[in-house]
Amino acid sequence: MNYAELLKTAREHMNGNCKACKICNGEACRGVMPGPGGKATGDGFVRAYNKLQQIKVHMDTIYEESEIDTSCNLFGHTFKYPIFAAPIAIPHIQYGEAYNSKTYNTAIINGCKSAGTLGFTCFDPVQADTLEPIINAGGWGIPTVKPWPVDVMLEQFKASEEGGLIAVATDVDGAGLALVKGMANPVGPKSVKQLEYLISSVKIPVIIKGVMTVAGAKKAAEAGAYGIVISTHGGRVQDQTPAPVEMLEEIADAVKGKIKIMIDGSIRTGVDAYKCLALGADAVLIGRPYAVMVYGGGSEAVEYYTNMIGAQLKEAMMMTGAKNLSEINKSKLFIDKSF
Ligand SMILES: Cc1cc2nc3c(=O)[nH]c(=O)nc-3n(C[C@H](O)[C@H](O)[C@H](O)COP(=O)(O)O)c2cc1C
Repeated sequence: MNYAELLKTAREHMNGNCKACKICNGEACRGVMPGPGGKATGDGFVRAYNKLQQIKVHMDTIYEESEIDTSCNLFGHTFKYPIFAAPIAIPHIQYGEAYNSKTYNTAIINGCKSAGTLGFTCFDPVQADTLEPIINAGGWGIPTVKPWPVDVMLEQFKASEEGGLIAVATDVDGAGLALVKGMANPVGPKSVKQLEYLISSVKIPVIIKGVMTVAGAKKAAEAGAYGIVISTHGGRVQDQTPAPVEMLEEIADAVKGKIKIMIDGSIRTGVDAYKCLALGADAVLIGRPYAVMVYGGGSEAVEYYTNMIGAQLKEAMMMTGAKNLSEINKSKLFIDKSF
């Protein structure tokens, strides 16, 4: 299996909305929604990519060599790499009919599990067997519930718990999703009280995805969340936002140690993942490139890609003198003055 070939096969299997670009930076798909683009001008997606590229890593290979450990502990489990697949909804409309939600999520869940990591999925509101790919993998996956009315969310949280899943997430920023606004159940903002009620109704960890401010992170912690994903939904819910990585350091300063911090948004290499870990993240999520991998080669491509990004992380750790994730810190970064 080779990455360039997977991109080529993906192009043949997709509907043209996504160009499976060599560098997935949001330029070729600005505003393409449905599809992989960022909303409106598409600036949110593009900025997330460009800001990450302004951060570089310092090399230092003068140290006593020892085994490098890329593993992380989250949700009561150990993962080979702190790299997870982000949820993607309705792939048949966004990327093409070669996959539907069920076959897509099956490829993500199984491919990530084989690579020793984990996939997030979208909790489909109409598909009765939406949790099946995760349940079949022994609960090894995290469904993401949209900010529907609280009673609908509660049902989906409970179903996740009853299915024996590792955790459940909710993408609170889905309040801004034009594609689902008109559906039977409206999406909208949720109060701390509502989130607290939902979180205390289940025993599994709850992750709040789509937090972009210190205030938001503190509210998530107050509601009892296990963790947050600093995210703009890939620039798909609001135009002209800062890049998630621009908010990472100050959010980490405020809530690190109180709740787990994950981040996504244009993370494209193991070195990008390294930069986020150095700024305070416990793990990263990657979205669009995983979709391209599914269309390029199903679960095997997902596994291949995860190991490729994981190997890049391990190489960056070797080149910067970090033996494990706790040794990755800000001193290892060179941040461009214009960041
Ligand atoms: C086509 C598409 C569909 C998505 N659907 C969802 C979704 O249902 N729920 C969610 O929380 N995030 C969804 N996202 C956002 C991703 O999970 C992720 O936050 C975002 O893509 C940023 O990562 P990336 O730049 O690596 O793609 C979607 C993104 C794309 C491109």
